[in-house]
Order: sequence, then C-alpha cells, then structure tokens
Amino acid sequence: MKKLREYILGTEQKVPLPDGRLTTYINFDNAATTPPFKSVMEKLNEFAPWYSSIHRGKGYKSRLSSQLYEKSRDIIADFVNINRNKYCIVFTKNTTEAINKLSYRLCTDRKDKVILTTEMEHHSNDLPWRDKYTVDYISLDKRGRLSLSDLEAKLIKYKDRVELVTVTGISNVTGYLNPIHRIAAMAHTYESRIMVDGAQLVPHIPVNMKPVDPVEHIDFLAFSAHKMYAPFGTGVLIGPQDTFNNGCPEYPGGGTVDFVTRDDVIWDNPPHKEEAGTPNIMGVIALVEAIKTMQEIKMENIENQEKSLLQYTVNKIRKIPDIKLYVSYNDFKNNTAIIPFNIQGIHHELTARILANEAGVAVRNGCFCAQPYVQKILNIPDEDIDSHRNSSHQSRPGLVRISLGLYNTKEEIDILVQMLKKIVENSDYYLRKYAEQIPD
Ligand code: ALA
Repeated sequence: MKKLREYILGTEQKVPLPDGRLTTYINFDNAATTPPFKSVMEKLNEFAPWYSSIHRGKGYKSRLSSQLYEKSRDIIADFVNINRNKYCIVFTKNTTEAINKLSYRLCTDRKDKVILTTEMEHHSNDLPWRDKYTVDYISLDKRGRLSLSDLEAKLIKYKDRVELVTVTGISNVTGYLNPIHRIAAMAHTYESRIMVDGAQLVPHIPVNMKPVDPVEHIDFLAFSAHKMYAPFGTGVLIGPQDTFNNGCPEYPGGGTVDFVTRDDVIWDNPPHKEEAGTPNIMGVIALVEAIKTMQEIKMENIENQEKSLLQYTVNKIRKIPDIKLYVSYNDFKNNTAIIPFNIQGIHHELTARILANEAGVAVRNGCFCAQPYVQKILNIPDEDIDSHRNSSHQSRPGLVRISLGLYNTKEEIDILVQMLKKIVENSDYYLRKYAEQIPD
C-alpha cells in the first residue's frame, strides 16, 4: 500500500515566510479543512469533459452526470451502513447547511418541542435550533466531557417533548469522542431520536449508523466533504425517509417541484425536494472519490494512524514547561487528534502567528465557532464573559488548536515541538519582536 502521505496533494508545498525564507508548509488545521486527495483531483479532471447539468437534459453528458449523481447516494449509504430504502440522503453545501435543513424539516407548530443539544457543540449544532424549538443543553463534567447522567435526567424531565437529541460525534475543540451509540440507545429508550454532527467524526473514525431497528442506530447524520479530503463544497444530511416526505422545503425553487400552477405547488419526492437549484455534481464526484480512497486506506488504519500521532504529540508537548493542555489524556481511549493548548503569558493569537511566521506551521486559534464551549474549557466565570462582548475577536480569550490528519508525520510534529520549545524559552524575544502585532 502507498504511504498515507502520498495520497495527499500539496504536502511538500513551500510557502514564503515574512523574512523571505521558503519553507515546507505544515498543516495542523485539519479540523477546519483538509487538503485534497490526489485521487479526488484526478477524478475531477477525468470527469470534467463529461460534466453537464443534473436532472435537466436529454443529452448524453447530462444523462451520464445525472446517473453518477444519483448513484453516489448508494456509495454514501454503503459507507455509513444504511438501508437506502429507509433513509434519505440529501446533498447540501456542508454540515452547517445540513443541520439547518433538519431544523426546518423537524419543525412542527409545537414550539414546546424540545431539542436537547449539548454544551460542547459547534455553533452550527446550536444556533439553528434556537429560534424554532425549546432548546436545552446537556451539561459537561469538569474536564469538558459530556455528562450522560445529565442527558438521562433531561430525557426524564421533558418526557415525550424531546424531538431530538443532537450531539457532535467528536468535539472540534477538545477532540473528545462521544459515545454516540450509547446516547442513541438512551434517546430511543425515551422515544426520542438522535442526530450526530459528524463533521469531525466521519473523516477520522469508522461510522456505522446501523439498521433502523437496533436501539443503538443513528437516526440522522450530517457531515462535510471539505474535512475529508474533498473540496468543492458538498455536505450530506442523512435521515429517515419519512422525515422528508412532509412540509415545504426551506429553499423552494427549480428542481424541488413536481407540478406548479399559479395557485398551487406539488413538491417533488425527497431528496429532490430538498435540493433546490442545479446540484453540485463536481462536489459530489469529489466526495465519492474521497470515500472510495478512505475505504481503500481503510477507516481503521486512519483511526490507528491518527491515534498514534496524537499520542506522540501529546507526550512531547506535555514535557514542555509553560504549556497548558486543556484535555485529559489518560488512556487516550476517547481522545482524537485535536489538541487545544496555550502557552503561559502568550496570547493564543500571537502563538498561532509565531508558528506560521517562523516555521510555516498552520494551526487555528480562537474559539473555533464554539464560543460557549471554549468559555467553559477556559473556566471563564459567567460574569466575566460579557466583558468581552465588544472586544475584537483577536483579543478575546481563546485557545490554540493542533488538529491532525491521516497524512501528518512525526517529523512535522518534531518541527512543531521544537518551535514551541523555542517560543517558551525565548518568550521575551518573541513578545518584543511581535509587540506591534499583539492584540489589544
Ligand atoms: N470549521 C470548524 C473548525 O475549524 C468546525 O473547527
């Protein structure tokens, strides 16, 4: 088998540093966006001469494109182990759009329906629910992990009002892996359903939604291609067919209808009803090729490789004085390759900038679109949170985040660790050097 790094485009790309040096870019920001698989780019070039409109033409290319587009749903179904007759697979732009779509689809006129989300969610699995339902948040333990006893207490408290338990598979802030099948079993026991935000899960761990009957099955899953080595703007929402049968699409328009008069509309069947406008066939071809490549590598190998990189990184960073890690790593069982940290006395914004400017190392910093969770992880008292309302994003409290992908190497991690040691040992120098750039 090829080395994992050989699957990826751009790993040896040189980038300019502010002092004029050229250095090989090191990407430790895979939780935001991964670089593309070579196979994805090759497939798109191969397909481009055949590219045409979906569901809108009798020409050969149009029919071929439509066929490939529809067939891709089978490949996705196989990837997450669902029965195509029972589930609907809807293409969206990304996970955020997928969750928004579900928030409309579940909408009834009963505003007292409860959505149980969690205190560790990305904004995309929190904000779409707020204006449509009564929302409550499953709380966390001291280490920022989900409290299953609080989930149970809330399921009991709200009884049959809980429309959905919606939870991230892996936190994009701490990398904690949630026990989604246990949560599913709890939700089903209390006659609710579960949605898993799979944006950070699907690219890293084998996902098995399971047939509908076992109590541990996952009802809804959302994920994004741009975090799984396939750019070009595709996301996926999967859910039981009947969820999509009723109601109007939140985006009505071309492609969503069966019959229209001046006074009446008959909607098309799902998933087409949910995919307004010309579908993004290039994005879907890219996603399918990425899935095939991940299946060739095997998800278990991806999981093991990333776990070994995680352990290597944490064990090295742990030894650097003045670096605070915010996640507990005991046996690494429920940890994945996302590592939030801060250097004592150096603002997260500055740490990220120094890493990029001095060593070409890309990390993300700030709150990672999960502000309430980061506020918890940083232990910011409620009464202090408001004082940051009017300050700039750069100056607010936050974290530095390393997020690894299947192609990262121990050599890259060594460069990062060396640079972190240098920053810690020469903090005065770097604080002076970057004085003008320190956020207010
Ligand atoms: N794009 C978000 C992140 O970087 C989810 O974590």
